[in-house]
Amino acid sequence: MSDQTVPDAKAPGPATGMEGAVVADSSLCFIDGQKGQLVYRGYDIHDLAGRVSFEETAWLLWNEDLPTRSQLQELKQELGRHRALPGPVLDLLRVLPDRAGSMETLRSAISLLATLDPEAGDMTPAANRNKAARLTAAMPTILAAAVRRRNGEEPVDPDADLGHAANFLWMLNGRRPSETAAQALDMALVLHAEHGFNASTFSARVTAATLSDLHSAVISAISTLKGPLHGGANREVMETLETMGSLENVAAAVRDKLSRREKIMGFGHRVYKTMDPRAVHLKKMARDLGHDAGDSTWYDMSALMEETVMAEKGLYPNVDFYSAAAYRSLGIPAESYPAVFACSRISGWTAHIMEQYAHNRLIRPRARYTGPMNRTVRPLSERG
Ligand code: ACO
Repeated sequence: MSDQTVPDAKAPGPATGMEGAVVADSSLCFIDGQKGQLVYRGYDIHDLAGRVSFEETAWLLWNEDLPTRSQLQELKQELGRHRALPGPVLDLLRVLPDRAGSMETLRSAISLLATLDPEAGDMTPAANRNKAARLTAAMPTILAAAVRRRNGEEPVDPDADLGHAANFLWMLNGRRPSETAAQALDMALVLHAEHGFNASTFSARVTAATLSDLHSAVISAISTLKGPLHGGANREVMETLETMGSLENVAAAVRDKLSRREKIMGFGHRVYKTMDPRAVHLKKMARDLGHDAGDSTWYDMSALMEETVMAEKGLYPNVDFYSAAAYRSLGIPAESYPAVFACSRISGWTAHIMEQYAHNRLIRPRARYTGPMNRTVRPLSERG
């Protein structure tokens, strides 16, 4: 086929996967991939991690600055009020088939929550902010109930007196978490809360930009986060470690995968060309939690994997790598790691959705056409 028949063929080619494309202004997050710098609304992640709670981070993302003491108190009360699930959602959790995983359950339950939310179709900033808080409050309850159901256990009612992270562990395990466990999960939620125009956030913004409602945009984001190249990687990290089985198998298994040109989950990043700054904290967390639990197996295997992947391929771990070993020590099943990620990123997604509504223009890129032209339809009888 000649170029003349393909009108776009001489147009400059797109960067595949939109690499490097800047598609909007945003005041939520700055990332310097060369320096390994991550900043939420002007605050460096190394300053935030361990110094603010998930609730303070959500407030920061929704409101431009960290909350005052009374604002934080109000937000905690608001989240506490919306943790319990409406009856139809509890019914749904009972009737979903056993094969429904945590991400499918979150996606389905949020679809149902949308139909029950009195402000679902209200596009005012106040209504969207209310919906963001309600979803942030309800998602851990959905997730904990889904995990317990798969284990044949009844859901545990949320406790409005506990912080966001501690309450999740309470609902998941049915016992009060230690201070160390609650603080670790809280920090993990802060580290996962926001990350610019990553794939799931971008899909949320594309949906929001059509002026579809906030719940629909969140469902787009969850569906995108689920894939193993994005938030599904943390689950696969643990599955890889389990398959390796023990420390002495790690190096050979990594080399074998690389020789077969398989991707090693939890390594590499589109933006970071250095250590992911979130992984620095998660690595230390995985080490400390393993040590406290008297079982450093998963951390030791992870550390050797990091060393081997660096030596063989020069790749750094990303946010999904050490979160696997850390979550394992917190008693969270691997299948639900991506959903824990979603329970944190809901704060960033909803901040982006609200930012999109505030300065909206339809997001509608184009593709360079590479298909045939000037064809003529032949009747079916002549097509053989
Ligand atoms: N294992 C082995 N090789 C890798 C890996 C990996 N994890 N990541 C990148 N590479 C290699 C590629 O094979 C390619 O090598 P080549 O040039 O020799 O063919 C090169 O590095 C560039 O890789 P791309 O896939 O083109 O990089 P891209 O920017 O498109 O991908 C991604 C980024 C998807 C994160 C990739 O590194 C990957 O697949 N990692 C594993 C999955 C993962 O951990 N995802 C979570 C990312 S963090 C998050 O989304 C929350």
